[in-house]
Amino acid sequence: MVITIDGPAGAGKSTMARGLAERLGFEFLDTGAMYRAVAWSCLSQGVDLKDADAVGNTAASVTLEMTPNAVICNGSDVTLQIRTGEVSEASSLVAAVPAVRQELVRLQREVASGRNIVTEGRDQGSVVFPDAECKIFLTADPRRRAERRLKELEQRGEAATLDDVLRQIVDRDERDQQREVAPLVKADDAVEVDTSSQTAAQVLDQVERIARLAIG
Ligand code: DC
Repeated sequence: MVITIDGPAGAGKSTMARGLAERLGFEFLDTGAMYRAVAWSCLSQGVDLKDADAVGNTAASVTLEMTPNAVICNGSDVTLQIRTGEVSEASSLVAAVPAVRQELVRLQREVASGRNIVTEGRDQGSVVFPDAECKIFLTADPRRRAERRLKELEQRGEAATLDDVLRQIVDRDERDQQREVAPLVKADDAVEVDTSSQTAAQVLDQVERIARLAIG
């Protein structure tokens, strides 16, 4: 069984997908981390991010291992490296390349096949798993999302200002929503949850109720 959680950056998808998977005894797949790993791979190999063919070739040749607590890319543990601001920006660019999406969608379906899994991303309910039994779309207003992202960055010791993070979030939303292939959209049959004024614990309870109703 597949449960999808989609939504914009900073809406709380990873926290909720992880928490929900734990409560249900399901596995968990962070598909944003896969786009980040391809972006990291491009940056570390000096691939021009504007060269779609080169970026597509990088995605096709990358070896990715998605374990519960680590992302292994070409044999290196890149779990922390893929969370920098530079990789965030680059991941939004590589995610707009059709060949990259094709490759990662194939991998995502392969990983999920025959498993009970919560997958999170932008296109999981709309494109990758259109027949998923339960689809959730998380949103929150941009300022709230920027505040959360800033807190994460601060915890990792990265310097940033709220204005900068807000601008990056708005830019990234726009790119993710406007791109031609698999733009960020809510699937018609997804349940929308606005997390702006709820605590993480409240959102997780709500998401669990939605999932348990769907599981039946
Ligand atoms: O969720 P995130 O911030 O880790 O995602 C990184 C980038 O990858 C973001 O710009 C959107 C993109 N992405 C995507 O296009 N499709 C997905 N299923 C997941 C992420």
